[in-house]
Amino acid sequence: MAQPQITTYEHPDCFLADALDAFVTTAEQSVRSRGICRVALAGGSTPRRLYQSIARSGVDLSQVQWFMGDERNVPLDHEESNFRMAREALLQPAGVPEENAFPVPINQDDPAAAARAYEATLREQFGSDTVDGVGAGAGLVFPAWDLVLLGMGEDAHTASLFPHTAALDVHDRWFVDNWVEKLSTHRYTLTAEAINSGREIWFLVSGSSKRDALSRVLGGDRDPHRYPSQLIRPTRYFVTTDAMPAVLDA
Ligand code: 6PG
Repeated sequence: MAQPQITTYEHPDCFLADALDAFVTTAEQSVRSRGICRVALAGGSTPRRLYQSIARSGVDLSQVQWFMGDERNVPLDHEESNFRMAREALLQPAGVPEENAFPVPINQDDPAAAARAYEATLREQFGSDTVDGVGAGAGLVFPAWDLVLLGMGEDAHTASLFPHTAALDVHDRWFVDNWVEKLSTHRYTLTAEAINSGREIWFLVSGSSKRDALSRVLGGDRDPHRYPSQLIRPTRYFVTTDAMPAVLDA
């Protein structure tokens, strides 16, 4: 398995400029190769800054489709909605047509039904653009994302794969509802297998509050139920220096 490219940046502006360049390159290569670029979006303040940069860049997004890597169990116009954040930071300012953006069909009373409906939408949109599962997901197929964008929480969660939650042990689904006890709420999330099937998988990590989580993920003992980001096989890390551990555990 190829090692991820880890790039650290003294200043967030350099972090964003590089991530934007990488996004443009990935989108152009995907559209040139397959006529489409399918992106899974993360929530959070760090990914939001990249979305704002993409919206301002003027890059041709006409063949890019935007999906949610995870979502909160709130209406799409709620202040905590990841789709609302993506709509305000990227989709609206970049003039993305509605048919190119796929929000989760939130069902606060039956999140399991909403997750199944979203998975059906993903399967319909991806069609045969899938890859074979590996490990626990072997024998199944998963979405061949062109790009999965991920943040990382201070507890080393990513998407809505939180420590000690049931979604960490789901290997035969693409997208599930996930009860998060510590938040006392349901979340929606791609499973680890449905993230790892991406062609490009990037962690965007900034801020000293992430240093411990990143040290556990980059070099700590393997304990993915405690540090869910360890489940992910990213291709790149974009990291500000204040989030980078001084010394990686052996
Ligand atoms: C969410 C996100 C979550 C986020 C991380 C990092 O719905 O909250 O998908 O996984 O990406 O918590 O967020 P920050 O970059 O804001 O720290």
